[in-house]
Amino acid sequence: MSKKIGILTTGGDCSGLNSVIRGAYLRATALKYTLVGIRRGFMGLAYNDMLHPDYIELNGAICDETMLTKSGSVLLSDTKWMSSEIQKGRTVEDVKKSIVDGYRKLKLDGVICVGGDGSLKLLNELTAGCDELNVVFVPKTIDNDVNYTDYAVGFQTSVAVAVEAIENIRSTAKSHERTMVVEVMGRDAGFIALYAGLASGADVILVPEFKYDLEKIKAKIRENFQNGKNHCIIVVAESVESADFKHSEREVDGVIKYTHISYKGIGHYLAKKIQETGFECRSVKLGHVQRGGETCVSDRLLGTLLGVEAINLISNGTFGKMLAFSENKLKIMDISEVVKNVNAALKMDDKYVGIARDLGVYVGEF
Ligand code: F6P
Repeated sequence: MSKKIGILTTGGDCSGLNSVIRGAYLRATALKYTLVGIRRGFMGLAYNDMLHPDYIELNGAICDETMLTKSGSVLLSDTKWMSSEIQKGRTVEDVKKSIVDGYRKLKLDGVICVGGDGSLKLLNELTAGCDELNVVFVPKTIDNDVNYTDYAVGFQTSVAVAVEAIENIRSTAKSHERTMVVEVMGRDAGFIALYAGLASGADVILVPEFKYDLEKIKAKIRENFQNGKNHCIIVVAESVESADFKHSEREVDGVIKYTHISYKGIGHYLAKKIQETGFECRSVKLGHVQRGGETCVSDRLLGTLLGVEAINLISNGTFGKMLAFSENKLKIMDISEVVKNVNAALKMDDKYVGIARDLGVYVGEF
């Protein structure tokens, strides 16, 4: 029986989203289903007096092979609609109603939501007690902070982009015999910092999960120079704090749940502290460059796999699930279970934390 399925991308974009969309499109087409691309995340699905579903019918010209490599999302994405609706005085129930109305209006049999941890929590809230929305969730985020999957779509490309940037920074660090602090993204998780730091040969890697000691960082710089290395690379995750450097209150107008704070620049702070001690030091914040970049092979494969399997789930009438990929196997998890413990974080006994320490990289917490 023919089906009409929607797909949307929500939350911060990343490379690999278009691979998911293309995989879903090709599988849907093979099954003679229609795949509707909903634009601007959940906002595009909503229907009320002011908002109407915002969508495009996906086709072979849109979903050609270039989608495998193209960063961003052809469907656009959104991070602020929910918080702005709440700020306008609408309740979660109002928003839920708009979304169900939009889903009905489009006559969908299911919808694939490609999002991060925040989108998953929101989706769980929007679908709680509602059996009308048939959803399948595909995890994507450069932060890689979604539990139960080894990698979320987009993480590995962002690490590759960060590694390339750090390698470029290393050449100037060497020419000027400097210490360079490179601040990377990742929100409350240190995965980008750890993986990019290790893969680019950083000397110090600071992550929000582990406390650090400035004296140990200085000792590492000193050790580098004493051992004949003429520079030092410090990779720091954006949300790292210290006793005298805090980002800000974790609440913005009472709606922090649906939005996030901006970080204040730990890289700049650290570089100043290091410079005060006589070591010449500069900082670079990589920022949103980590969300772009030609999709790496691993993200093309992961995105394609999850896009295809999302359609297969809907085809089987299986809903309320998150797809994950762990230890080389596809896993199908209940969204209601995943949200109980959604956020992944680094632990001291993680494999790559141990490797970093074995290499003599300073990672903090001692
Ligand atoms: O969650 C992905 C992410 O890129 C984080 O690493 C970063 O802190 C945040 O989004 C930036 O969000 P925005 O683009 O809204 O400033």
